Amino acid sequence: MNSSTFSRRRKAAAVKPTMKTPNRMNRNHTVICSSLLLAAFTGLVSVSFADELPKLKQKEHYKIGFAQTESNNPWRLAETQSVKDEAAKRGDQLVYTDAAGSAAKQVADVNSMIAQGVDVILLAPREEKPLVPAVMAAEKAGIPVILLDRRVDPVAKPGVDYLTFIGSDFVDEGKRTAEWLAKKMNGKANIIELQGTTGSSPANDRHTGFVEGIKAYPGMKIVASQSGDFARDKGRQVAETLLQAHPDANAIYAHNDEMALGAIAALEAAGKKPGSDVIVASIDGEKDGLQAIADGKLAVSVECNPRLGVKAFQVIDRYAKGEKIPTWVKSDDRLFDDANAKENVASAY
Ligand code: AHR
Repeated sequence: MNSSTFSRRRKAAAVKPTMKTPNRMNRNHTVICSSLLLAAFTGLVSVSFADELPKLKQKEHYKIGFAQTESNNPWRLAETQSVKDEAAKRGDQLVYTDAAGSAAKQVADVNSMIAQGVDVILLAPREEKPLVPAVMAAEKAGIPVILLDRRVDPVAKPGVDYLTFIGSDFVDEGKRTAEWLAKKMNGKANIIELQGTTGSSPANDRHTGFVEGIKAYPGMKIVASQSGDFARDKGRQVAETLLQAHPDANAIYAHNDEMALGAIAALEAAGKKPGSDVIVASIDGEKDGLQAIADGKLAVSVECNPRLGVKAFQVIDRYAKGEKIPTWVKSDDRLFDDANAKENVASAY
């Protein structure tokens, strides 16, 4: 089978989702596996499903790869800084890459880390599907992978294909934002949704969670939904267009603070008052977001903590000691609104 190797046991499991597997997982699983298998059989990629997680030797200092997805907002910068700070504190060598918003570059970055023989790879995958082969390639090369902040498609499983996922519950973030907004709007609103990067786990899950959260309120309607790519200016542009098309919109749900701040700029440019004419709700809890709450322009921001560096290195230590690592090391996230935003501005990123 040329360069592609498949464990018979895992291959069977990969192509045959069980009856218990949820629908999205079934569909994704089948599509991804078919694509991977086709690519492998045609010799385009080398894919391997190993039987167990790669081991990690205990060392005084590690060579750690961190494949970041981009550096286009304060959240990303805070995450990168927390990883760099912790590596420096421990005297570990960090091989850092920035994929500049390209999933293809991020795959190449991971492959380069594999070639450089890093001990562990921390990966913040830009999108769910394209990074699966990179995770599999690292596993095949005997390098444990820890997914930081975002997930990959469920065809790759924590505790099996990669060590663990460290990060927030994005579905819950969407749900909490929806419930807060529904209360604020007395169960009735025409909502514009600014989605994050298409195909990324936070965009998928924050949409799912929000839809789930407004289900109990028939008067809460999403009138338009479009991606602003988690970026402030893109959020502003998309909000500008959608506000023109939906002049009756009285709420905006942005998947992150940066897009919410862009939407606030678009509202002000259109002569509307954020905070009274249109209520803006978002996720992250960055410094500018909390300041906008204190200023009465942003209504709420459900926290998504980017400072994951300490947790990541603690997991590495525990794994090297032979401890069993949970498949999800969950962040404990707060909610900021006018009751507590002001006092948290100074400590925010
Ligand atoms: O994956 C987390 C999300 O990605 C954050 O909400 C966002 O700001 C970032 O780019």
